[in-house]
Amino acid sequence: MLTSTKELLETAQKHSYAIGAFNLYNLEGVKAVVNAAEAENSPAIIQILPDVLNYGGSSLIALFLEAANSAKVPMSVHLDHCGDRTIIETALEAGVTSVLADGSMLPFEENLAFTTEMTVLAHESGSTVEAEVGRISGTEDGMTVAEKEAKMTDPYQAKQFVAESGVDFLAVTIGNVHGQYYREPQLDFQRLSKIRQQLEIPLVLHGASGLPARMIQQSIELGVCKFNVNTEVRQKYLQFWREFGRTESQSDLLDCQKAATEAMQEVIAEKMRLFGSGGKA
Ligand code: 13P
Repeated sequence: MLTSTKELLETAQKHSYAIGAFNLYNLEGVKAVVNAAEAENSPAIIQILPDVLNYGGSSLIALFLEAANSAKVPMSVHLDHCGDRTIIETALEAGVTSVLADGSMLPFEENLAFTTEMTVLAHESGSTVEAEVGRISGTEDGMTVAEKEAKMTDPYQAKQFVAESGVDFLAVTIGNVHGQYYREPQLDFQRLSKIRQQLEIPLVLHGASGLPARMIQQSIELGVCKFNVNTEVRQKYLQFWREFGRTESQSDLLDCQKAATEAMQEVIAEKMRLFGSGGKA
């Protein structure tokens, strides 16, 4: 059933587990998340990126919302990384249960002003808001240590930001990156612990693809209750079609769609077990 993201995260926080938020693009992705969540008896979050929303329009967002609503487990639908007021309004009107009002590319004060305004809008529609303080990169390559640290979340700025904007959960930057980790991930858990000391709201970690189990566990212990996952599921989907094209003469598209769904479902179910959300629906 469609459930508030805030409620899902606060319950997870209280019981020391985290919820997977999966970036989806189409029906196969949605079925993979719903099937995995029902099989694992786990809550889950469906995420949509602004470009995907622009491409799929009202039909795609309606599909995501309806799939979440008719699922046997609690699920929410979240607009990921959006710095555009118009798209946030469209998503809120469609009924998404939360948005990432992403002003992280802006200087601190402008990020705060944008996020505060989007938080008022979202709360008026009964939705909730994730914000980002610090800036999550696409890759670590080519950055000096000082450059990396400058992009990380400052615990005291985070405290001020949350108090003034009224956001409901916060995405932290502690060395996590979107996409592939080209070397062993290095997360700054001391920084995460300091952020936790300053904030009571649920914390979010982006770039969860490729993080080892011990880092996931340590993050949960330090207050992370939403992990964003895109790359690993997307790669599985693409790998399926690549291999399929090489080996099969199958022409029944529906069979192919089902098999692609199953391939993604396996990765998603494994993440749910890793995050400790299995059995928590
Ligand atoms: P990955 O692609 O690294 O899994 O990160 C996804 C993400 O953080 C989306 O916001």
